[in-house]
Amino acid sequence: MNGVSLYRSTRGATKQYARWLAEETGCPAMPLREVKKDQLRSAGCVIIGCPIHAGRPAATGWIRKHWQLLADRPVILFTTSGAPPDLPALKEGFAASLPEHIRPRIEYYPLGGRMIMRQLKLTHRLLMRIGQMVEKDPDAKAGMVLDIDNVDRTGIAPILDHIRSLEQSSNGQA
Ligand SMILES: Cc1cc2nc3c(=O)[nH]c(=O)nc-3n(C[C@H](O)[C@H](O)[C@H](O)COP(=O)(O)O)c2cc1C
Repeated sequence: MNGVSLYRSTRGATKQYARWLAEETGCPAMPLREVKKDQLRSAGCVIIGCPIHAGRPAATGWIRKHWQLLADRPVILFTTSGAPPDLPALKEGFAASLPEHIRPRIEYYPLGGRMIMRQLKLTHRLLMRIGQMVEKDPDAKAGMVLDIDNVDRTGIAPILDHIRSLEQSSNGQA
């Protein structure tokens, strides 16, 4: 597939998935901030990966800003999070962070993330502590300061299935 696998990643979990996707699809992986407009214009498919920060995908600002370049091609967003990928709040956060004209045009896949507290920089550790103080759900509250590693290559399988279906439909049209 002619595409790009873009990522924003602070501690490497999202970057790892972007690289696995690049290996499987042949779409080069690169940081979101380094992609050139021409690369977006010529991409058949754009895969974007980012962490969840404060309940929202961290790349939705970038997506809104660049939507004109993305709008006429398939866009796949995946996120990594401390929360388990099947938590309904992740899809709610995705829905709340993008406007109605963009949201239905993006295929969204939450994936398992990694958060090792001692590896976070001080400001991020403080943010997590503040988040824990305001969190009302006792289970979520306890989980916010525990180490988590749910990064798993098999998580990309549904994304690969989706890309294969895109390839099949574009071959059918050719
Ligand atoms: C400042 C900060 C805020 C975070 N907020 C959330 C959150 O609201 N919900 C969640 O599930 N995970 C949250 N996380 C965990 C990250 O989404 C998770 O560790 C992710 O896999 C990190 O990806 P990366 O290694 O590519 O940066 C947060 C992490 C940091 C550092």
